[in-house]
Amino acid sequence: MNSITVKSPASVANLCCGFDIMGIALSGLYDVMKLTKRDEPGISIKHTDRYNLSENPSENVAGVALQAMMDALKYTNGFDVVIDKQIKPGSGIGSSAASATGIVVAANELLGKPFGKKELVSFAMEGEALASGSRHADNLAPCIYGGLTLIRETSTLDIIELPIPPMYVNIIHPQIEIKTSYARQILPKEVPLKSAITQWANVAGLIAGFIKSDYGLISRSLNDVIVEPVRSKLIPGFDQVKKKSIEAGALGGGIAGSGPSLFMFSENISIAQAVEEEMKTVYQDLGIEYKTYITTIGEGIIVESLS
Ligand code: HSE
Repeated sequence: MNSITVKSPASVANLCCGFDIMGIALSGLYDVMKLTKRDEPGISIKHTDRYNLSENPSENVAGVALQAMMDALKYTNGFDVVIDKQIKPGSGIGSSAASATGIVVAANELLGKPFGKKELVSFAMEGEALASGSRHADNLAPCIYGGLTLIRETSTLDIIELPIPPMYVNIIHPQIEIKTSYARQILPKEVPLKSAITQWANVAGLIAGFIKSDYGLISRSLNDVIVEPVRSKLIPGFDQVKKKSIEAGALGGGIAGSGPSLFMFSENISIAQAVEEEMKTVYQDLGIEYKTYITTIGEGIIVESLS
């Protein structure tokens, strides 16, 4: 096998109360990456999208992740990489994670699967660290494992795959950019015990709700008293979107990753459509450009072709 094309998905990290520990892969929104083996050493990257990302492998999330994997294998030949990003950098729905995971999954397939999923997450984390300035795997793991994942411990990559009941996911992406590194800098370094108790009760409730397919419990647990109050100030219209979406029947939601996109869960498509209308109205009234998507929880990276 010499050449592979993969689709690497958007993802939503945190899911309100689970800052840095929970995430889901989305379906229907993907970066497309083609990887071809070559005899000459090194990595050559070409972007066919419009985002002006560096094609220097040491400054490119995909390049850094692939290099980490090649170093671990002591691989001396090289790769040509063509990336068509559909997930806008800085959108909050895991653009850097899609690049970092798609490339290592693709290379692993081409090389006869020398690595398991957990090792692939660790290589991808090198790329994610370049983008956000910190090592977290809550967008990476769902891209590689699919569905919903919990990162019980980041340092050892103790990753748990969890069930999640059928739900529709609304995303609205106001066309402003928030850098993850900045959205992390502004967070409190310590939290009051009272807030910590509320937060870990909600994390436990959310996970129990997912496992039991208890939509009421999911709805009550989609609540973040630590991160959202700080970050939501960076997102115009946040409070209105959340209020109107819940009034339209959404189970709940909040900031997708570090924003500016917002997500909402709904039990059925007609509620998701009503939620989308409410979200659009908020940003139309504010005069802010936006993009919306109605999607579902996805299976992670998809191999399109292998030859
Ligand atoms: N958990 C991360 C954050 C996701 O919220 O900063 C963004 O990459």
